[in-house]
Amino acid sequence: MDTALPVDLFGNGVVAAPMAGGPSRAELALAASGAGGLGFLAGGYKAPEAFAAEVRTVLGAGLPFGVNLFVPGDEPADREAVLAYRERLRPVAERLGVELPEPRWADDDAYPAKLDFLLAHTPPVVSFTFGLPPAADVVRLRAAGALVLQTVTGPREARAAAELGVDGIVVQHPDAGGHFGAFLPEPANAAWTLGELVAVIRHAVGLPLIAAGGIGTPADADAARTAGAAAVQLGTAFLRTPEAGTNATHRAALADTVFNRTAQTRAFSGKSARGLENAFMREFADAPEGYPTVHYLTAPLRAAAVKRGDPHGTNLWAGTGWRAAREEPAAAVVARFAGG
Ligand SMILES: Cc1cc2nc3c(=O)[nH]c(=O)nc-3n(C[C@H](O)[C@H](O)[C@H](O)COP(=O)(O)O)c2cc1C
Repeated sequence: MDTALPVDLFGNGVVAAPMAGGPSRAELALAASGAGGLGFLAGGYKAPEAFAAEVRTVLGAGLPFGVNLFVPGDEPADREAVLAYRERLRPVAERLGVELPEPRWADDDAYPAKLDFLLAHTPPVVSFTFGLPPAADVVRLRAAGALVLQTVTGPREARAAAELGVDGIVVQHPDAGGHFGAFLPEPANAAWTLGELVAVIRHAVGLPLIAAGGIGTPADADAARTAGAAAVQLGTAFLRTPEAGTNATHRAALADTVFNRTAQTRAFSGKSARGLENAFMREFADAPEGYPTVHYLTAPLRAAAVKRGDPHGTNLWAGTGWRAAREEPAAAVVARFAGG
């Protein structure tokens, strides 16, 4: 099976990762694609109308790009645990003068609308994370002309994605910034480097691989390519670019030496995600699982913290390579990480 990616879509093999919650926006996708990489839009959390408008904008430019969707889960949150967590968050909300919303137990009910839009206005690439989409969605997107990618975190998930018939795999290492897209129990993979994980998955499936997670320097990218990745996907490296929609509090924290490590946390969303370790993460280190209920529960707290410029009350997603992220144009990031 062919393990290369089409050059007309993936250019120099640098993918600007989809980053929901603000950082990914049309400007960033266009800048990355315009510089010879592959830009991405993130569908997660977006209302269908805003999603459609953004996709239309980038489609109109005639450049290759990708659109990422969160696949809704069907695991019900542990209501007791989430309600207990809500009680623990109450004093924080009172301090900030915001209301904690009633828990919302449903996952993204906008998924079908977003998928329908992509079937009618098909981008060159579509990627999925947080789980496998229904097989029919993959068939329909491919029939509409999209190249379909699935994010996986280990060989079991990679095999399941290959059986589903996707065209390529995004291999996400736990060093990645943002949410960890694991959806099946995997062998303990935290001990593997990104290169080792790529090699293991390369052995498991004969599909093109895109390596993601903790790539801070061009040498990290080269190591992933040497291990068999056809492209690299970087998120954190783009967070400080002017084209990204990263909020000012997050941007400043990425450059602030007060933050000296990243960690995985469920405190903000009820699902493991990596960010700069701050006071909220330390205080709620034992937060329950319960995505996206916890995400919606903490949303007003996070918004208030961002508004006040308080980096200790909001999520500061970052991969382990964050120290190497620079304030520079997205095109410069693409150029630095392009394969030789
Ligand atoms: C702020 C932020 C938001 C993210 N949002 C998404 C997303 O919406 N969809 C997705 O598939 N991955 C998302 N990710 C993960 C990236 O796709 C990618 O796996 C990760 O950024 C790679 O690791 P790095 O940040 O160390 O480069 C996000 C990452 C960050 C930092």
